[in-house]
Amino acid sequence: MSNHRFSPVSEDEPCCNLSQKAKICLGTFCVLVVLTIAAVVGVLWGLPAPKLKEWDGKGTTPNFPEIVLGRCYTYTKVLRPELSHKDCRKIGKAFMDAFLSKDPCSSTERDYQPLLELTNQTVPCNKTLFWSKSSELAHQYTTVQQEMFTLEDTLLGYIADGLKWCGDADSSGEDLGHLKSSRDLWGERALRIVGFFFFFKFAENACGVVQVVLNGSISNGFNKNSTFGSVEIYNLRPEKVPTLQAWVMHDIGDRSVACSSSSINDLKLILSNRNIKFTCHDNYRPIKFLQCVKNPEHSSCRSLI
Ligand SMILES: *[C@@H]1O[C@H](CO)[C@@H](O)[C@H](O)[C@H]1NC(C)=O
Ligand SMILES: *[C@@H]1O[C@H](CO)[C@@H](O)[C@H](O)[C@H]1NC(C)=O
Ligand SMILES: *[C@@H]1O[C@H](CO)[C@@H](O)[C@H](O)[C@H]1NC(C)=O
Ligand SMILES: *[C@@H]1O[C@H](CO)[C@@H](O)[C@H](O)[C@H]1NC(C)=O
Repeated sequence: MSNHRFSPVSEDEPCCNLSQKAKICLGTFCVLVVLTIAAVVGVLWGLPAPKLKEWDGKGTTPNFPEIVLGRCYTYTKVLRPELSHKDCRKIGKAFMDAFLSKDPCSSTERDYQPLLELTNQTVPCNKTLFWSKSSELAHQYTTVQQEMFTLEDTLLGYIADGLKWCGDADSSGEDLGHLKSSRDLWGERALRIVGFFFFFKFAENACGVVQVVLNGSISNGFNKNSTFGSVEIYNLRPEKVPTLQAWVMHDIGDRSVACSSSSINDLKLILSNRNIKFTCHDNYRPIKFLQCVKNPEHSSCRSLI
């Protein structure tokens, strides 16, 4: 026995082990099969499927897909028919795909790349208009001067303007992960949200003389923390943008002068460090006319013509 190749123990163990393993494996397999069948049956019977919490987030504008589609068609078929070749269904899908079932707080530019490509659009040189704390006036101006573009006058900006998406999944009440609900709030937090990519691209694509409407009736006509001051000016390409022209608009009746103020001087400094020439005008006449439409009797408007 002792010279036998297999001792009883060694003879017994592999056999026993094998059959035990086999039993365990078989058992596990059976449990898995049962679980799988149960899951399939459960789904087929209409048990609730796991939900996309980002999509359900109450932060998302109701009817978001329909709004995106409708705006896309309005823009490409009615407002700017030169873009009528754009495929709005694809654009809508690319928008959904960019954030559906993704963590809204960790969106990357890559998620939005297909959307950015589908909505690409050439803004002619000299026709880019930025604004900061002057939303209403700047958009009134581009409504009249249709060849000028703010971000909201581009296809993507037009589609996204004022919408919220991504929901508020785990964002502890903070509105992370989506653009702001009103134009004037598109701002301070832009760096932390996907809107950043839109602002970034818009500035990066600008060429020629770029213009900005600033608000001369607030203490920081130029605010380093605004989207314009923190994202847009840093993404202008000096090799394409020789000059930035600021129109500093004052509320009707405000006679102060802002181009020489220290905040505007900060802007001048940043631009000169970036090799971009800066010019500044208080109360640019064409925009002042728009203010005067609402205040035709004001003394500063009577003398305008
Ligand atoms: C948009 O991108 C496509 C593909 O990259 C390109 O062929 C087209 O010229 C671009 N259109 C505009 C308006 O830039
Ligand atoms: C842009 O404006 C500058 C200065 O006014 C002018 O020299 C240039 O020709 C313009 N470019 C285009 C494409 O209109
Ligand atoms: C300047 O900002 C104030 C406060 O946000 C606003 O009421 C006013 O309309 C703005 N003025 C211009 C010229 O945009
Ligand atoms: C910009 O933000 C920083 C940090 O939040 C703050 O300390 C600073 O006062 C802000 N500057 C302006 C001009 O609002």
